[in-house]
Amino acid sequence: MLGRLGFETAALDAKLLTGHALGLDALALATREQEPVADADAERVAGLLQRRMSGESVARIIGEREFFGLAFALNAATLEPRPDTELLIELAIKALPVGGRLLDLGTGTGCIPIAVLANRSDAIGLASDISAEALEMAQINAARHGVADRLRFAPGSWFEACSRNGRGEDKFDLIVSNPPYITSAVLETLAPEVKDFDPRLALDGGPDGLAPYRIIAANARDYLSPGGQVLVEIGYDQGSSIRALFAEHGFADIVVHKDLNGLDRVISGQHLKGS
Ligand SMILES: C[S@@+](CC[C@H](N)C(=O)[O-])C[C@H]1O[C@@H](n2cnc3c(N)ncnc32)[C@H](O)[C@@H]1O
Repeated sequence: MLGRLGFETAALDAKLLTGHALGLDALALATREQEPVADADAERVAGLLQRRMSGESVARIIGEREFFGLAFALNAATLEPRPDTELLIELAIKALPVGGRLLDLGTGTGCIPIAVLANRSDAIGLASDISAEALEMAQINAARHGVADRLRFAPGSWFEACSRNGRGEDKFDLIVSNPPYITSAVLETLAPEVKDFDPRLALDGGPDGLAPYRIIAANARDYLSPGGQVLVEIGYDQGSSIRALFAEHGFADIVVHKDLNGLDRVISGQHLKGS
């Protein structure tokens, strides 16, 4: 049925959802394939398949998605972490100095700081999001992956979370973000899986997709230690505009990093000592 509706991963989706509904892993599902299924179980499977046919992703139905080798629980307020963002994690793990302090703006499931801190046991961090519901999920994920004692959470719009006690009181060695960067017009053209199920707040970057970057570029240096860096994920066609924004606000050594598909994916910039 899923296949006939054009779902490219129909067979895999059906297996994952059936396994989830019946509480069986892939091996158990394969070995018990010929066993009869109780009516109530069959109804549960049919219910999940129906949701998939309406466009909801397998990860949302199951309630979690794997990212950088870790499983992240999702709720309605969190974006599903995407493989695209794994490049940002690799760069952040390398960029953080020993004992470094990380700030993540717009944390969603918390996938960025949790994946970084899980791989850097010397580092600590602060994660913020404007959505309190997303932050709740991020805190659950931090506990699940054993980094809750090194990661603080604070609600607020962009830098508000770290400026409540006075501008620049908190300084960080690395500021990271995967902000919403889709233009409001393009949003309407996206696949139902994204448009109808990922939260708008996590996608909409305003009329030109750059609104969050303007705020981040204009304020990040106030919260960076001298020599600190900023690393932000970007859309494939935003490299030159966002490079210009960071240059305008005094960042040095600005580099556009390409992903495995050769597309612009992350921008880094440095707050030089003494500047
Ligand atoms: C593209 S999602 C990224 C989520 C997560 N960091 C990831 O990579 O999967 C952007 C996030 O920014 C948050 N956000 C949107 N507007 C915000 C604002 N004004 N201040 C702080 N966070 C905001 C959204 O709630 C969402 O969690």
